[in-house]
Amino acid sequence: ELPLSGKVTWKVPSNIALVKYWGKRADQIPANPSISFTLDASATTTSLSYEKSELGSSKFSFELFFEGKSKEDFKPKIQTFFERVEKYLPFLKSYHFKIETSNSFPHSSGIASSASGMAALSLCLMDIEKKMNPTMDAIFFKRKASFLARLGSGSASRSIEGDLIQWGRHYSINESSDLYGIQYPYKVDSVFKNFHDTILLVHKGQKKVSSSVGHNLMHDHPYAERRFAQAHENLDKLKTIFEEGNLNRFIDIVESEALTLHAMMMTSMPYFILMKPDTLEIINKIWEYRALTKVPVCFTLDAGANVHVLYPESVKEKVIQFIQDELVVHCEKGHYICDRIGNGAKKL
Ligand code: PMV
Repeated sequence: ELPLSGKVTWKVPSNIALVKYWGKRADQIPANPSISFTLDASATTTSLSYEKSELGSSKFSFELFFEGKSKEDFKPKIQTFFERVEKYLPFLKSYHFKIETSNSFPHSSGIASSASGMAALSLCLMDIEKKMNPTMDAIFFKRKASFLARLGSGSASRSIEGDLIQWGRHYSINESSDLYGIQYPYKVDSVFKNFHDTILLVHKGQKKVSSSVGHNLMHDHPYAERRFAQAHENLDKLKTIFEEGNLNRFIDIVESEALTLHAMMMTSMPYFILMKPDTLEIINKIWEYRALTKVPVCFTLDAGANVHVLYPESVKEKVIQFIQDELVVHCEKGHYICDRIGNGAKKL
């Protein structure tokens, strides 16, 4: 039985990949497995109001409000998303939807909201689906939400749950799937449980090359196959690193993954660079600071110029001081976001 109308709201965090997803096959199937920390402060809140239409429509019917304002330029993305998920949510054309969404992080901070945004919309839609199948269990609910989110934006599949999420088939993780993210099933030392991620906003503008263009450039990429194999190897290595709480080896993998992601961009055809001079200044300062103090702080990068500074709870005061003294000068208008590893999506 289809509900007549209703409204549902989810708050969903972003995530930061440790092993990066870069390159995909048809239907948003990742070319390699990835793993990420779910974040906490950087989140999207989405409300979905739905009202049953009298006659089923032949088109999707929705309005979109971003931070209170009607937003036409996001509509094509939602339209594409609806087209992709319709066969898994056959009720979509029976409703008129009003989507109201806002981010906790400032607009145009260079932080992609596609992961948290697509995950939030997927969870809202799953709520309607659950009204029709009230006996649906929690695992199915989350997996299908992640499955749908993946069709919106690959990394969104890793934003449903906390706190360490793996997505993409990997031979040594039995439960792993190309279709949805799962909570990392092996032992993780407590040192990784309270990790911090301070996001340095180096460049707030729109990036020049979108991630979908970037993923596509992995198709005829000279190093693609080796890179995909490396991601599998790094996931393997992380298993012992997580188990033992080995921060030094964690840092080696995470920083190498970040630089490899950008190396893939620099070696594609056409080639491009998303780092800025300040990105490199920050990286060098982190390396110098770490060599001098032995404080286990490292960086990772997304597909952009901003730097994510990762460190365990035990060195929090020292690292914040270092960031304020040395790194904030490299941030646009001195802006940065203090985030940490989090527990995943919440229904409000
Ligand atoms: O989810 P997409 O298609 O925007 O791709 C994101 C890719 C990276 O952020 C660069 C890496 C990752 O695994 O999140």
